[in-house]
Amino acid sequence: VSRASESASAVTAALAEFTGTEAADWHLVFKARYGMEVVFTSIARVKGDGDVATQIFTCATAVDPILVAGLTPHYGEVNASSVALDPAQLVLGDSMRAVVAQHTFGIVDNALTAQLRALADSANAVLVEDSAHCVARLATDDAGNPFADVSIHSFGVEKVLPTRFGGAVWVNPDMKDQALRDHLTASLIALPVIGAKVDRAARSYLTQMRLLRRLPAGLAKRTRNALTAVGLYEPAIAPVELAGGLSHKPMRPSHWVTEAMADAMHQLPRIEQRRTAVVAYYREALPAGAQIPASITTPQPLVRFPFFAPHAALAEECFDALNSAGLRPGRWYRPALFPGVADPAVYNYVPGDGALAATEDLIERVVNLPTDVDLDTAHRVVDVIVRVLGEAAR
Ligand SMILES: Cc1ncc(COP(=O)(O)O)c(C=O)c1O
Repeated sequence: VSRASESASAVTAALAEFTGTEAADWHLVFKARYGMEVVFTSIARVKGDGDVATQIFTCATAVDPILVAGLTPHYGEVNASSVALDPAQLVLGDSMRAVVAQHTFGIVDNALTAQLRALADSANAVLVEDSAHCVARLATDDAGNPFADVSIHSFGVEKVLPTRFGGAVWVNPDMKDQALRDHLTASLIALPVIGAKVDRAARSYLTQMRLLRRLPAGLAKRTRNALTAVGLYEPAIAPVELAGGLSHKPMRPSHWVTEAMADAMHQLPRIEQRRTAVVAYYREALPAGAQIPASITTPQPLVRFPFFAPHAALAEECFDALNSAGLRPGRWYRPALFPGVADPAVYNYVPGDGALAATEDLIERVVNLPTDVDLDTAHRVVDVIVRVLGEAAR
């Protein structure tokens, strides 16, 4: 048994323990997007070409794998409670091969996911759970059985864990389509490990980021793109990933990346506890003008805490005020298919045509707050929001 497979076993065992599943059903990938690519490619092979129901309130890298697999994304409206696809507004035709249940920001709404499960069943489609924002958390029924056929988890940049690379795919051993299960499992097991060059880029990432941060913004961007083009830098989102492609073929993580993933899994309980405490505080302390997604009923270890400002200009004011105070606000996912794709038509998205008016309105108004902070910082964040939204109310 190689050292690499030992650390991989440690990661899959930890994922299984956290989720009440079997380690053998977990498979590691270099980034979650490559796990998604294998999933959608297997779906296309086994079930044939067709469509995938997903949302524009997401990162471009969550839709690229659908395109690379040769399937067509179809976007549904999101529910303002869960920021996931709204089952009440989702219509699935005969060509629907998969439905994506995205736990946006880490909001896991079991009841709404159950409805997406039922809809997927009625269309004979696969339910793909996107747990990129909530590693090692699955939507389940009351007995603890996961709803999804396949679940995608990320160890990537700005996700729950301090790792910058790595992803994992859980394949439900009981999924109805056993031919798909077998094809997908075999494909994941057969993935090659990243080569020495990508591994070197991954290892250098932190140092490169620190150096790039010291450069003026324009020069930093040019340097980053130049290093990316020659494979010396492994960016969170590559230019090709805003144009419907992915940088690499699907691959498994190297020994170094896997070791970092194993190490991070030990830290997960502590990290989740800290994020949950901050989520509980934001829920109580944010002013009434900040519309909080209703599915955050109990404190959960969200990767970011979202709220919707009363209108777009106020969302930007909150963002600017937090930014000038150094409080790391986010505008995931404004613009749609974040951070904005080169040509929306490539993504089968027509901005502003009215079909996604409710989602586009939420995108205009969303602000999200850091949860990996201490409570003193969270107090300062809330003070800024109270000042901006309070001033606006007067
Ligand atoms: C919702 C969602 N799904 C999938 C991904 C892809 O994750 P990774 O960066 O590990 O490829 C991301 C991250 O950008 C994401 O935000």
